[in-house]
Order: sequence, then C-alpha cells, then structure tokens
Amino acid sequence: MAGRKGSPSTVLVTGGAGFIGSHACVELLDHGYEVIVVDDYSNSCPRVFSRVERIAGRFVGAVYELDIRDRRALSAVFDRHPVDAVVHFAAHKAVGESTRMPAAYYDTNIGGTTALLHVMDEHGVRRLVFSSSCSVYGDAGEGPLDESTPHRPTNPYAASKAVCETVLADLCRADRRWSVLCLRYFNPAGAHPSGLLGEDPHGTPDNLFPYVSQVAVGRRPRLRVFGSDYPTPDGTAIRDYLHVMDTVEAHRVALDRLADGPGMKVFNLGRGSGSSVLDVVAAFERASGLTLPYEITGRRAGDVAELVADAGAVARAWGWRPVRDLADMCRDAWRFQQLNPHGYQGTPRRPGRHDEGAGPCG
Ligand code: NAD
Ligand code: WQD
Repeated sequence: MAGRKGSPSTVLVTGGAGFIGSHACVELLDHGYEVIVVDDYSNSCPRVFSRVERIAGRFVGAVYELDIRDRRALSAVFDRHPVDAVVHFAAHKAVGESTRMPAAYYDTNIGGTTALLHVMDEHGVRRLVFSSSCSVYGDAGEGPLDESTPHRPTNPYAASKAVCETVLADLCRADRRWSVLCLRYFNPAGAHPSGLLGEDPHGTPDNLFPYVSQVAVGRRPRLRVFGSDYPTPDGTAIRDYLHVMDTVEAHRVALDRLADGPGMKVFNLGRGSGSSVLDVVAAFERASGLTLPYEITGRRAGDVAELVADAGAVARAWGWRPVRDLADMCRDAWRFQQLNPHGYQGTPRRPGRHDEGAGPCG
C-alpha cells in the first residue's frame, strides 16, 4: 500500500502524458502507487512513458489513448482497474487559444470533467485531486492572493476552471461521499532533474519557460517580452514560478490527504515569491551561460501585472512547502532542453505496448 494508511493505491492519472502529468507519474511510481493513465495526446506524446519508466525503474500499470469526454471508453478503464482515486490533469490550457476557441475549451475542460465525475460515481470512486489554476483569480490586483480571493476569470480557459471548481463544490455539498482537493497552481516550470522529462508542448509555446528554453537551444531566434510598462520594479510582469517537482510532490501529499474526510478543499500551489519576465531571462542566462536575445513588444491581451500566491494555507494544513527556487527551475529546464533539443521526437516507444495508441509526435 502506497502512502499513509487509507491512502489510495491505484491512481488514475488523466492527462498523464502531459508536462505536469508525466512528472506526477514518476512521483507516484516512486512512492509505490499503481499508476493508470488516460490521455488523447492532443498536447503530448506517448513516447514520454519510456522515459517515465526509465526514471522510476517501474512500469506504468496501463496507458490508454482516449478522450475523457468518451464516457464509454473511460468506463471500460474503470471496469478493468481497481481505481481508488483520480488525479485529473487532462485539459486544454492555452489562454490565447481559449479566446479563439471558447466552445472547444468549455467542452473539453468542463465536459471532460463532468464525464469523468459521472464515470467515477458509477464505479464508486469518489476521491479526486483536481488541477485548477491561479487564472481563476483574474486581475485581482497587487499582493499575495489567498484562496478566499473571489473568482474573476478574464478568459474562457480560466472561466472553464472556475466552473469546474463550482461543479466540484456543489457535488461535495450534495453527496458527502466525495472527497476533492482542488489545487490552484500558479506557474509550474522546470523539469525532472534527470533531464529525461520536461515541457514539450506541441507547436509554438505559449508559456514563458518553454519559450525561453527554445530560444536558448536555438530553435527560436528571440524571446518577445510582452510589455515593459507594468507597474513593477523593472516594468515586466511578475509571476510566481513553482518547480514542477514541487508541484507533483504536492499532488502525492494530496492523495494521502484525500483520506482525511469528505468535502472539497482548495489550496494555492506557489512559492509565494514573484519573478519578473526579465528576472527569468537573467536566471536562465546564469543557468545556461548564454546571452538570450529578446525584444520588448506590446502587452499580451489578457495579461495582468502581478500574480503571486499566498501559499500559507497548504503549508499550515499539510506542512507542504516548495523547496526549489528559480535557479533550480532554470537549471533543470535547460538540462532537459539541451539533452532533448527537439523534445520527445525520436524517443523509442515502449516495446510491446499497443494500448497507448500511436500519438502524433513523430
Ligand atoms: P499539458 O497540456 O502538458 O497536459 C495536459 C494533458 O491532457 C496533455 O497530455 C493532453 O494531451 C491531455 N488532454 C487534453 N485534452 C484531453 C482529453 N479531452 N482527453 C484526454 N486527454 C486530454 O498541460 P500541463 O501543463 O501538464 O497542465 C496539466 C493541468 O494543469 C491542466 O489541467 C492545466 O489546466 C493545469 N494547469 C497548468 C498550469 C501550467 O502552467 N502548466 C498552471 C495551472 C494549471
Ligand atoms: C508568464 C509571463 C507573459 C511568453 C498562464 C495561465 C495560467 C497558468 C500558467 C494554466 C507573462 C510573459 C510569456 C512569452 C513573455 N496556466 N511572456 N513572452 O500567462 O502567467 O499564466 O500559464 O493554468 O493560468 O494564465 O504564464 O508562462 O504564459 O507567462 O513575455 O513569449 O511571461 O506576458 O507575464 P501566465 P506564461
């Protein structure tokens, strides 16, 4: 049995091929959990699992290529495996794209979540760790934000996460058998220290860290810094970057904490300390020994000046605190990018594993 007494031992990870999901698989395998994954590879690649297994020295129990909105396919996974709890990462997450394709975002992020809840309930599985986002706070103003900050989403992606939180809260109020932990991540970044796992989004990265890494490795000519006229010390926007390894360690603790009792709890995951875009560029330059070309352009629509977590609640409740800093994130992201200039392309598939599907990743 993994974790504390009463902790789940078989965990279904939706979106387990993605950036945070793949690191979570390693963390759970390392701690003795049986891990089952579902993913449609819309932003990932099945080749990641050979890396996950190499790091963990253990096999992922099973991997299924499916869309979480497909209730019948999802139900068959629950029929086959004695799932105790679910960590739900699967979602579309690009803020800009969500403003162009709102229906697709609501469909996948909300429809996918309600489909999952339906199938879980049918199978008597009522323990869930949900990936929420600091974006639910919107333009909340200066200073660290605690969990009581009201939802003020400013784009369809953020709105989809806010609706999911409402659905989960209502579900837990209506049915006391459910235990849900909603984790509002600020800006996860970095990579596994082995250099085998990291962030490898399809297409042009939206997020700062993978973009900077691709500039450093020569895949993109320069970074565009979106705005230098924010009311911040250097004029560029401030975010609370959190190492992906700290992020997934919090999920492992959350799985243990699901046994504490029914109801929904919400926690911020952040370091409680902000870094500007230029701070990130400077830290990445120190980590890589390179000078990174950048140009200042206009603000990106929908961006806010500052988003920093008050991360006190999770520390008080669970004693969990991040232990890695911005330099660690840059060092690990750079190691992954150097070792894998084209991401997971070219990584061998796991031999003899056909259930996980072909995936679109070369
Ligand atoms: P990611 O895109 O790397 O991972 C998401 C995974 O879900 C991908 O593997 C994708 O293929 C899969 N997926 C998408 N739609 C699916 C569907 N309909 N059925 C099955 N699989 C599907 O993203 P990530 O950065 O690892 O984010 C994981 C979760 O964390 C998401 O819910 C995201 O909204 C949330 N989150 C991320 C960040 C961040 O900055 N990375 C911050 C806050 C919250
Ligand atoms: C960080 C900073 C950009 C790219 C989004 C979501 C949030 C969460 C994390 C999912 C900003 C600047 C970026 C570039 C830049 N995701 N930037 N040039 O926007 O804080 O948060 O991802 O839930 O919900 O909103 O993250 O990494 O895109 O940007 O100057 O090429 O870097 O303007 O200030 P963001 P990000």
